[in-house]
Amino acid sequence: MELATVDFSRENLSLPDIKDFDCGEEPWARAAANWIKSSPPFESALKSMEKHGTTVWLHFIDLGFYRELVGFSSLGLTQRSRKQVGFIPQLAVNKLFQGKGVGAGDKHYSDLILEHLIKVAQERAKTEPAYKRLCLLVHADNRKAQCLYAKFGFTIVGKQDARALVPMVKCLLT
Ligand SMILES: CC(C)(COP(=O)(O)OP(=O)(O)OC[C@H]1O[C@@H](n2cnc3c(N)ncnc32)[C@H](O)[C@@H]1OP(=O)(O)O)[C@@H](O)C(=O)NCCC(=O)NCCS
Repeated sequence: MELATVDFSRENLSLPDIKDFDCGEEPWARAAANWIKSSPPFESALKSMEKHGTTVWLHFIDLGFYRELVGFSSLGLTQRSRKQVGFIPQLAVNKLFQGKGVGAGDKHYSDLILEHLIKVAQERAKTEPAYKRLCLLVHADNRKAQCLYAKFGFTIVGKQDARALVPMVKCLLT
């Protein structure tokens, strides 16, 4: 099943789906939910978009008469070892949809969302070579996210920083 994907904007902040977005109780999950809600004290999606040119998407299950927010994703550029590289600032799946997909044996929603980001990065890499390397920071205790990223070929490339964030990188085939 395809997810309906729409661009996130300041106007989306008033959507009930965003106001109630919940992806878990762990500190990294709360940080992710507050990022999309633009709730202080966390860095926010809006700030990332306005300051760094990040693109943010909302992913819905759309049944025409009814739609529900499954999760969100984001993609931009950052500086790593003095080089510009593709960067995934945040990504999250609504708690109700975590560990779930469509039908037995199918991909999970988290797989579909990460596939979307990789596809966009591959497309951008054709004109912006920085996107050939895709990196992100994941909390050292966030095993589920680490496992998801590893499944898609991301590898840990450094030690955790003072905030217990670990860098992961994937080189894209273009
Ligand atoms: C991270 C997140 C997007 C993953 O989505 P999800 O639907 O929960 O993920 P899945 O259930 O598909 O699990 C992903 C992988 O982790 C594995 N996994 C699940 N629970 C696990 C656990 N407790 N420990 C280790 N691995 C685990 C799964 O087996 C799966 O791997 P597999 O497909 O090879 O079996 C989601 O949990 C989330 O939104 N978390 C809060 C926000 C967040 O952490 N964002 C990432 C910021 S870097």
